[in-house]
Amino acid sequence: MTDIIFRIGDESRTIDVADGVSLMKAAVEADIPGIIGECGGNAMCATCHIYTAETDGGRLPAVSDDEDEMLDCTASDRRPGSRLSCQLVAAPALDGMVVEVPPEQV
Ligand code: FES
Repeated sequence: MTDIIFRIGDESRTIDVADGVSLMKAAVEADIPGIIGECGGNAMCATCHIYTAETDGGRLPAVSDDEDEMLDCTASDRRPGSRLSCQLVAAPALDGMVVEVPPEQV
């Protein structure tokens, strides 16, 4: 299991995500507000947008062309640490990672 800490405004929630499960799926199942995952994890909706710390870039997989394209369509501003949480899969390297839920997803 991998602990991922979601920041939602002033609130923080830690969820245990089974290795191999996407952060979007885990967040939706844990009712994290603001993570919608409308397309089911196919990098086609951008409603699973999260902000990761730029310093976490090294432990995350590279942004694919599809993800990059969708990140230009997010409701909240794209930042250097923006990612689609459906494209990030829990693994020991991500344990303890803090991600922020953007103010708007649609
Ligand atoms: Fe649609 Fe991530 S769930 S892009």
